[in-house]
Amino acid sequence: MSTAFHLLPPSASSISTEVDLLYLFLVAVSAFFGVLIAGLVIFFAVKYGRKHPDDVGAPIHGSLVLELTWTIIPFAIAMVMFVWGADLFFRLARPPRDSMEVFAVGKQWMWKVQHPEGVREINTLHVPINRNVRVTLGSEDVIHDFYVPAFRVKMDVVPGKLSTLWFRATKPGTYHLFCAEYCGTNHSAMIGQVIAMEPQDYETWLSGGASTASPAVAGEKLFNDFACSTCHKSDGSGRGPVLNGVPGSTVALADGSTVVADDNYLHESIVMSVAKVVRGYQPIMPVFQGQISEEQVMELIAYIKSLKAPGTAPAAK
Ligand code: CUA
Repeated sequence: MSTAFHLLPPSASSISTEVDLLYLFLVAVSAFFGVLIAGLVIFFAVKYGRKHPDDVGAPIHGSLVLELTWTIIPFAIAMVMFVWGADLFFRLARPPRDSMEVFAVGKQWMWKVQHPEGVREINTLHVPINRNVRVTLGSEDVIHDFYVPAFRVKMDVVPGKLSTLWFRATKPGTYHLFCAEYCGTNHSAMIGQVIAMEPQDYETWLSGGASTASPAVAGEKLFNDFACSTCHKSDGSGRGPVLNGVPGSTVALADGSTVVADDNYLHESIVMSVAKVVRGYQPIMPVFQGQISEEQVMELIAYIKSLKAPGTAPAAK
């Protein structure tokens, strides 16, 4: 990595140039008005400053044209910032459907990563370029923040919930991975690398990794080990709800409300099942909070997502 001074970090994702342009626009507008206003303050102070002790200010009766001008122009500029920023924000907040999913858990003081094929790594994330990568983030302890400056993406990682971030790397290289939220004594050492590779190099790297079970397969084992399978039977005969097809669906709850079964709902239902009981079932599931690691929760979710939804072909594991 070069030691030369750079104004901006390297730009290596599909969105990084767009983020830079928006940022430069905000800086340029701020600089323009900052200079304009400071200049006018000085100019008017000199031009209209009191020259004699007995000077009296001229009466001013207002100007509709002037007032409309200084209202409409800033409004238009603010709306440009809003529309531009909101468009970029929404695209950053919504991972494309074709993304490959990587799991990352923040833990004092490291990042633990697991790839869909099962390969694990610590403080390093290998990704193929030109492919949408969705990182599902969880925390084992306190709030961390997953930050890759070169990709212009950053997301808080909060204990008790899952958050998501996505990017598409465009240039092979090694980039900083920071924790951007103070998380204790060694926060400053919670540093890793994102290594973006040509797709074939990534495949080679993957096949050379220690082969462990994919998250979905590991989740299936946990599902049996924790005896989830005794109540959650796929034929509906168990004491717990059928889980097939639940992810992404709308679930009716015992209190009469409904909830969309997103990652956070699944997460909450695994660690704290009594929080949202499904209609027609009793709150009999044990609370797993403190009994199960964040990685295990992610693996269970991966397994539940891999379950065959009623009336469809089996999902790929
Ligand atoms: Cu983790 Cu700072």
